[in-house]
Amino acid sequence: MSQLLVINSSGRHNRSITRRLTQQFAECWLMAHPDGKVTERDLALQPPSAVNEAWIASAFTSAQDRTPQMQEALTESETLLAEIEAADAIVLGAPMYNFGLPSQLKAYFDQIIRVSRSFAYVPEADFPYQPLLADKPVTVIISVGNGDLLPGGPMSQMNFLEPHLLTMLEFIGLHNVEFVRVGYEEFQDGRVKNALESAEIAIARKAAA
Ligand SMILES: Cc1cc2nc3c(=O)[nH]c(=O)nc-3n(C[C@H](O)[C@H](O)[C@H](O)COP(=O)(O)O)c2cc1C
Repeated sequence: MSQLLVINSSGRHNRSITRRLTQQFAECWLMAHPDGKVTERDLALQPPSAVNEAWIASAFTSAQDRTPQMQEALTESETLLAEIEAADAIVLGAPMYNFGLPSQLKAYFDQIIRVSRSFAYVPEADFPYQPLLADKPVTVIISVGNGDLLPGGPMSQMNFLEPHLLTMLEFIGLHNVEFVRVGYEEFQDGRVKNALESAEIAIARKAAA
């Protein structure tokens, strides 16, 4: 059975553009995969824990040397990674907050990017990191208040959201990444309406692929 993992990170539950579009993606995906299963991870309702002393000590101890308490410190990380591994496709809603990721989404990546689990450290290699997760399609739905921040726009150099997300996803092995972008949410004029229409068309196509 095919599985879609829907990850939402908007702090808004009403009026959220990314939530509306991840939901549309899931509906279109289910039409194309009638026997499929959709799993949702809501990072605003259940914010991932910030990594702490116990997490770091455990993550940097080899698996066979971990005490039961150390293993316990990585339970949340394991749960989140198992969801990714079980999925055949992922759709991620990522609003821009202060030119980058919402903190709950950053906390999520801090939980899932783990040495010897989602990436390997290979000091002798020219590029000393090797991704460990199996690749799968990831559709990232971005919404920004000011569309001038999107790629090609006059403020694009202030967009740290997309390069950061892409770097982290590729770092753990998710290279098949496509972005769907909605700009100008703050302006509430024709530009956001047009952007939403284009996004909905792109999502229907990608979800059915
Ligand atoms: C805390 C916060 C910070 C934001 N920072 C930015 C920003 O730096 N640049 C921008 O263009 N829009 C910014 N916005 C606007 C959001 O990106 C925009 O409202 C987007 O649609 C939010 O996604 P959502 O509709 O799924 O909630 C911010 C919104 C919030 C709530």
